[in-house]
Amino acid sequence: MANRRLAPAAEQPQDFAFTPENADWARGQIAKYPEGRQASAVIPLLWKAQEQNGGWLPQKAIEAVADELGMPHIRVLEVATFYTMFALEPVGRFWIQLCGTVPCDCCGAKELKAALHERLGPAGHVSPDGNFSWLEVECLGACCNAPMVQINQDYYEDLTPESLNKLMDDLAAGRPVKVGSQIGRVSSEPKDAVNTLTDESLFDGSRVGAWRKRFEQTEGAGDEGVKKDEAASTEARVKDETKPARPSAGRANESNAVDAPAERASAGQTPVKSEDEAQARDAKAPPAQDPAVVEDKVLRTEPPQHPATVGAGDDVPEGESPEARADAAGTRPKGLDAPRDDRPDDLTKIKGIGPINGRRLNDLGVWHYDQVAAWSPKEVAWVSAYLALPGRIDRENWVGQASDLAGSRG
Ligand code: FES
Repeated sequence: MANRRLAPAAEQPQDFAFTPENADWARGQIAKYPEGRQASAVIPLLWKAQEQNGGWLPQKAIEAVADELGMPHIRVLEVATFYTMFALEPVGRFWIQLCGTVPCDCCGAKELKAALHERLGPAGHVSPDGNFSWLEVECLGACCNAPMVQINQDYYEDLTPESLNKLMDDLAAGRPVKVGSQIGRVSSEPKDAVNTLTDESLFDGSRVGAWRKRFEQTEGAGDEGVKKDEAASTEARVKDETKPARPSAGRANESNAVDAPAERASAGQTPVKSEDEAQARDAKAPPAQDPAVVEDKVLRTEPPQHPATVGAGDDVPEGESPEARADAAGTRPKGLDAPRDDRPDDLTKIKGIGPINGRRLNDLGVWHYDQVAAWSPKEVAWVSAYLALPGRIDRENWVGQASDLAGSRG
């Protein structure tokens, strides 16, 4: 498995910002998700950032995506370091990802790896001509045509060391190459002789196949005899093979009613139902104990929770607006009708506030660092509940950051 480390500081750019075109594209991706669920756009945004940066993700791009989505930097770093589709160091013009998982390994990935090592040196280095770099990754989902590599966006399958070397020669020379199987297999058809589904009566050359026609004919002829036999056989099996009723899996039977998070959000409700949140909390709660023991355990082993944000708004009935939920949690901070002197502060300089939450704060009349710096704990609780960011404003110390920014501006 590949090492997943950020590139050395010397190779990291000083900053990163999406081009206007890519920023537009990113906004379109984010808009696909319900309010409060913008983090779901993290993978497409990282992918676009990598593409814009010449095929690899620098630290500043990871942070820019986090800020855009209002996520802590570490959460986005976790995503970027988990998926090998994100290159964390500069890559060659052709970035080769070699699958080394069992099916490919059994079919010759070891030999491909040796060939890459011999031609390009160790994984993770760009060849001196800037053309290639390579990395061993886990299954890329083309196991049926193993062994295989992914080069930039394309898959090359059924490889041998010789065909891989020729492929690289062609790519480097700018000659056209064939993607997919290198031995002419179509899709994932058998490699050698066909030895399954050989009964021609099952296949008449059409996509539907003779088997289906046979059923259609049977039904068309109203073959009562066949149906009776099937019914008798089913009855006999039921007697001998009694099974318990389908277990409930601990939840109510499904119904046709549409009640998905996106539906709820578009109806102005919270994406997650309050009773589901409560159920999840109960499921995680430890079994009841002597209160003295519980208190002692909390005192000794767990960090204190912010009293104003714990359970904030839990008693708000399902379907209430964000304002109602926030009102149940704390006190709404006073807002301004417009920025003073028509010069708002850039709230996204407060780490943890991205453009979206910046705009939502503006909608509340919050335009300046000193306004955020003056929030009381109850006002923090209100904004936390309103933005659906429980505990984060405290964790990221927006108030302290805003105070510093207001002070440094004089
Ligand atoms: S094991 Fe190589 S593609 Fe799945």
